[in-house]
Amino acid sequence: MSGRVALVTGGAGGIGTEISRKLAQEGYRVVVTCAPVFECPNLEEWKRLRKEEGMDIPVYEADVADFESCKAAVEQIEREVGPVEILVNCAGITRDSTLKRMTPQQWNEVIDTNLNSVFNMTKQVFTGMTDRGYGRIVNISSINGRKGQFGQANYSAAKAGMHGFTMAIAQEGVSKGVTVNTISPGYIGTEMVKKIPEEVLKKIVAQIPVGRLGKPEEIARVVAFLVHEESAFITGANIDINGGQFIH
Ligand code: CAA
Ligand code: NAP
Repeated sequence: MSGRVALVTGGAGGIGTEISRKLAQEGYRVVVTCAPVFECPNLEEWKRLRKEEGMDIPVYEADVADFESCKAAVEQIEREVGPVEILVNCAGITRDSTLKRMTPQQWNEVIDTNLNSVFNMTKQVFTGMTDRGYGRIVNISSINGRKGQFGQANYSAAKAGMHGFTMAIAQEGVSKGVTVNTISPGYIGTEMVKKIPEEVLKKIVAQIPVGRLGKPEEIARVVAFLVHEESAFITGANIDINGGQFIH
């Protein structure tokens, strides 16, 4: 796809890896950011696996919760690789707890990493996109931002906020060739979901009509669809991918 630069935050995580692989396979120049290296112990292994698959994907450090860190990373990426034309905001965390037990730290970490991150990253690339007249932004939200989830007041608030951001920025980009969309995955089989206690997860899977967890590839293919040049008429939308767990 004409070698456009695609930046995927959290691009070495469970869903991010499949998004990165899919976009690289489709001919984008993919660049991944991950949290500062001490949190990425498997990074060298990740790069080696991509090389084996014929993909040379540079990885830059950026703490998405920190505006200055995002600014420095994007400046470096644009200097070394080129202007970012596609941004996938995929980095995220959970700090699950009932509200009764939730600490301000658990609240703030999730809001900073899952919602403020979207401002921190998009702010670095949006003006360049509108000035050049082309851009694609995809925000990875969640089913739990759509319906709320017991034990996830922080996460549900942040993920719902992401789509508010999408709808606002979509209006600012629409006449300048920049589309902004949200994807709301259901429960996908990654490390994030593996942290849920087994008994609790069993009950959740029983509520998924398709009868299983989703696969990261099932998210990646929709990202590829949305960032395609021919998807220019889709903006401000939310796409649910949840095996029928929440139909609205
Ligand atoms: N609805 C109503 N009541 C519920 C409930 C639910 N969904 N889940 C638990 N309860 C009840 C329990 O039955 C229990 O009741 P009693 O006190 O009467 O026995 C009470 O609430 C406390 O439940 P727990 O024992 O589970 O409480 P806990 O403090 O040990 O754990 C929790 C709370 C951490 C939130 C735990 O329930 C949990 O991990 N839940 C899963 C939350 C979840 O779905 N996280 C998704 C993570 S992955 C992700 O976020 C990706 C994505 O986007 C989909
Ligand atoms: P994951 O494997 O845990 O990946 C999360 C990624 O986010 C990791 O690469 C992690 O980087 C990165 N990250 C976390 N904090 C960061 C920070 N401060 N700065 C930069 N990067 C940071 O989880 P996943 O399932 O692939 O989740 C990816 C996205 O999809 C998240 O936004 C999540 O909320 C969303 N989602 C997931 C599901 C699901 O069921 N799995 C469902 C709906 C939505 P490090 O490895 O360097 O820490």
